[in-house]
Amino acid sequence: MSSKIDLVIFGARGDLSRRKLFPALYQLDKAELLDSSLRIAAVARQELDSTVFVEQIGEILKANLGDDWDDQVWARFRKRIDYIRIDFAEKKQFSSLKDWSNEKRTMIFYMATPPSMFGPICKHLNEAGCVDKNARIVLEKPIGHDLESSKEVNDTVGQYFTERSIYRIDHYLGKETVQNLLALRFANRMIHSQWDNSCIDHVQITAAETVGIEGRWSYYDKVGQLRDMVQNHLFQLLCMVAMEPPNKVEADEIRAEKVKLLRAMNPINQQNVDDQAVRGQYAAGWISGEPVAGYMEEEGSAADSSNTETFVALKVFVDNWRWAGVPFYLRTGKRMKEKVTQIVITYKDNPHAIFADDDAEANNRLVIRLQPNEGIQLEMVSKKQSMKERLSLEKRTLNLDFLDPQGDDRIADAYERLLLEVINGDQWLFVSRDEIEASWQWCDDLLEAWADKKVGTKPYSAGSWGPSKAEVLIENDGRSWYEV
Ligand code: BG6
Repeated sequence: MSSKIDLVIFGARGDLSRRKLFPALYQLDKAELLDSSLRIAAVARQELDSTVFVEQIGEILKANLGDDWDDQVWARFRKRIDYIRIDFAEKKQFSSLKDWSNEKRTMIFYMATPPSMFGPICKHLNEAGCVDKNARIVLEKPIGHDLESSKEVNDTVGQYFTERSIYRIDHYLGKETVQNLLALRFANRMIHSQWDNSCIDHVQITAAETVGIEGRWSYYDKVGQLRDMVQNHLFQLLCMVAMEPPNKVEADEIRAEKVKLLRAMNPINQQNVDDQAVRGQYAAGWISGEPVAGYMEEEGSAADSSNTETFVALKVFVDNWRWAGVPFYLRTGKRMKEKVTQIVITYKDNPHAIFADDDAEANNRLVIRLQPNEGIQLEMVSKKQSMKERLSLEKRTLNLDFLDPQGDDRIADAYERLLLEVINGDQWLFVSRDEIEASWQWCDDLLEAWADKKVGTKPYSAGSWGPSKAEVLIENDGRSWYEV
């Protein structure tokens, strides 16, 4: 059923709205994926004339879109936007939203606000009569900082919205390559039949960033990399790599498989924490020839010392039939050598070596790159083309770039896909409450083990691949991190 949509963005003047939401909506409009009737209410607390707000958005878009800017699209897009001033704590002011809306339309409320505002906004929306059975709400992370607090957030929002109408964003699920994992795994029999512990030696998931904490010290220092990146993004990648095939590509089916996987993850606790987890914090160093400050010297740093991790490496096992015995090595950090997000599947050795050449021993590897240069590479061994040698082998790579010359000429930003799915009312790329709780449960065990054993952070130089202990974590198993 398609109905006319009123999209309400709370926090319309914030960073997320400017950097992601408005550009994504503009691109959707440009691609003619927005119904002509769709309207946008940009809500924030500052007193501001609507025309001025729209002009400001136009300037931001124009500055950032480069060649993607199009005067005609902008002329169409700007007409959709109305700025509405509401102080989120003021119940009475929500009546202006009710006046703006139209009862026959579906309202979507996008919470680009701190989570502490979710409760008051939901309550006031409800009291103003804006929440009906068709209304949807979109929540940005963080959803809590542990299991307990995530339940509180979900309970609060759940008083006004049913699970069917709650869209919890994990922007990694909006990335083209992440969706492509479904196609790769489940549309290719060849891949699928070899996707288990009989063929796969181990899996690596790396999400390395060159940025630091980008002026967010006081927020980040309370959170750390485990909560900021692992609990959500890395675990979602792990789910997409390791879950069982869903019966259909539909929200309930996919989400049920992800929950099963998250619940099968072997905990890291006091017994195994020293061997299976590493925490790091960046010290000063160099990135791309430029000096960069250490975490404690970052702008906003308010303490003499901090035990917050900016790097995490983990060795995780999934206790089920498919994956028993296969280690999943996960690592993520700020201020690392390169910006790269990739999944590397390393296959087992051949059961018996018949070639004299060492290269024949090389394991096949599947590298799934989320960024940069989205695509898939399959490392294989083939014969060297040469008459001089009898049968010599070499490593070759099959390349599948996602920037398909036959397809769209750009890879859409994750928020474009996610906004489109919310508008279409499809939850397949959103995270369910059960998933959030299962992943917090797992992280709580690890956080407790770190706290109980007073595990400190290991320093690493900005511009490196993390603390040396992260190398040891994998080298102890006779393996090494796959470098770009
Ligand atoms: C966000 C984190 O969710 O993801 C940031 O809060 C991080 O700290 C960002 O930098 C990384 O996203 P991407 O898409 O650049 O890998």
